[in-house]
Amino acid sequence: MNTKLTREEALKALTAYNKEPFHILHGLTVEGVMRWFAKDQGFGDEEEFWGLAGLLHDIDFEMYPEEHCKKAPELLKAAGAGEDMIHAVCSHGYGLVSDVKPEHQMEKILYASDELTGLIGAAARMRPSGSVMDMEVSSLKKKFKDKRFAAGCSRDVIKNGAEQLGWTLEELMEKTILAMREWEAAVNEEMKQYL
Ligand SMILES: [Fe+2]
Repeated sequence: MNTKLTREEALKALTAYNKEPFHILHGLTVEGVMRWFAKDQGFGDEEEFWGLAGLLHDIDFEMYPEEHCKKAPELLKAAGAGEDMIHAVCSHGYGLVSDVKPEHQMEKILYASDELTGLIGAAARMRPSGSVMDMEVSSLKKKFKDKRFAAGCSRDVIKNGAEQLGWTLEELMEKTILAMREWEAAVNEEMKQYL
């Protein structure tokens, strides 16, 4: 698996179609999480591909919310992304806005962790620290069960995602928290230019 894109080109494409800092933050967060998982899962040689797929997965959402994952192939192609990247991006909307099934391990992880990073981010913002650094799985599970909290983050997608990976919900949560911890400082630093 290989990407033709450099990170600089990917970031340029993302910010061409996304002006909302919240959307850029989400892309950078999922990028970091995917980089962490690439190494965790023994795909360290594919880290760049995993990361850039994470960075670009919602490229079409801000401008084309009604055509989410439908407009993405065109935008990604124009940016120079290959078919493998396009498949990965489209598969994260499987069952909701896309019929491209997550097949590769990276696609299953992107599907499972995307909504969960939203939930973790929202939970982190409620904490006195405003951070994931001191967040534990037990407190995240409470937020997960509270359906009114961050209601936009689909619990069903997160549950299906863990199931597709053959992981428990706790495992998925623990790993994703660790991934977000590793990248939090770098993402916050990079976000300064967009705020
Ligand atoms: Fe997303």
